[in-house]
Amino acid sequence: MENKKTYKIAVVAGDGIGTEVTEESLKVLRTLEELDKSVKFDFTEYPWGCEYYLKTGEMMPKDGIEKLGKSDAILLGAVGYPGVPDHISLWGLLVEIRKEFDQYINYRPSLLINPDLSPLKGIKKEDVQIKVIRENSEGEYAGAGAWLYKGTPHEVVLQDGVFSRHGCERVIRYAFELARKEHKKLTSISKGNAMQYSMVFWDSVFNQISKEYPDVETDSLLVDAAAMTLVKNPKRFQIVVAPNLFGDILTDLAAGVSNGMGLAASANLNPERKFPSMFEPVHGSAPDIAGQGKSNPLASIWSAALMLEFLGEKDWADRIVKIIYDVVNEKKVLTPDMGGTATTSEVGDEVVRKLKEA
Ligand code: NAD
Ligand code: IPM
Ligand code: MN
Repeated sequence: MENKKTYKIAVVAGDGIGTEVTEESLKVLRTLEELDKSVKFDFTEYPWGCEYYLKTGEMMPKDGIEKLGKSDAILLGAVGYPGVPDHISLWGLLVEIRKEFDQYINYRPSLLINPDLSPLKGIKKEDVQIKVIRENSEGEYAGAGAWLYKGTPHEVVLQDGVFSRHGCERVIRYAFELARKEHKKLTSISKGNAMQYSMVFWDSVFNQISKEYPDVETDSLLVDAAAMTLVKNPKRFQIVVAPNLFGDILTDLAAGVSNGMGLAASANLNPERKFPSMFEPVHGSAPDIAGQGKSNPLASIWSAALMLEFLGEKDWADRIVKIIYDVVNEKKVLTPDMGGTATTSEVGDEVVRKLKEA
């Protein structure tokens, strides 16, 4: 009797290099399906993004969220392209999905694979092994604000940060659980010296929850000092928990001091599994290199591995991540951002080849 696990995967490749790198992830997942007769993917690809917007006036159809809601997970490429203002494209698709599906955890690992990839002088692999837990549902991304007296000399713009007890507690607790499980130090990032409401509140929630985890070593840094320390002494960070905007900025910086944007993966999680989670590279649509076959697909492939892990296919996830390590260390088939000359699809093919070989 056949005992196949079927995973319904919604694919939103999006814009620019989003479409190129997602193609490679799909190649890898289809190979896995060939190799493991007990796993099947039911992919539904949605052509949503900026081109779709220019044709229809919407980034996704009205029932887009309902459609995605039927899937077990979402694989996303990147969103945003010149011709559509970023706040329209991103709010109409990416941020909307994160909010509607209450994906309040944004897990972003920065694990240096090969010191040659880091611009930091004398850095060792073990110096940059950072896992960031970014708050992903509120804070500066709550969408609360107003634009008053627009276009007049009295124009006033408000963009409010929203920090709820529920929102702060759940992300900080999640980070503590991870730190406890991995026996790692947890660093909280904030800015209580300047933001006397939101960040003082964040700090107080962090201190309060820390009492539930006396076994977890904690550290706390102001975001400006954290930015400097990430460059000067990244070893200080193990697990990091940060509010939404600081988490966004620091994870690009963490990618910069480790493997670069081409390898930065991320998972937008709804840990309760009430809604589908979404897996996407940290990078954007990179219009500067789109359509040239230069984009590095490894961040997307790593994100697909995070998806497999979340779906319960940890062995496959580990195998794919190991192959990524091998490809990077062998330095034979790499895209230009990592000093190679290979194309996007050649890197995808190399991952597929190694998967079949193993
Ligand atoms: P970006 O991440 O797209 O690019 C930054 C730089 O990194 C560029 O020089 C680019 O060529 C390089 N880069 C990024 N990914 C790469 C890869 N896989 N391989 C090789 N090089 C890579 O950021 P940006 O230029 O600030 O933004 C471009 C567009 O993407 C904007 O519309 C922005 O709003 C959007 N964006 C979307 C997401 C997302 O969908 N998750 C994330 C960030 C930015
Ligand atoms: C990211 C991106 C998004 C964010 C933008 C495009 C809305 O920068 O995923 O890091 O700020 O969350
Ligand atoms: Mn970002």
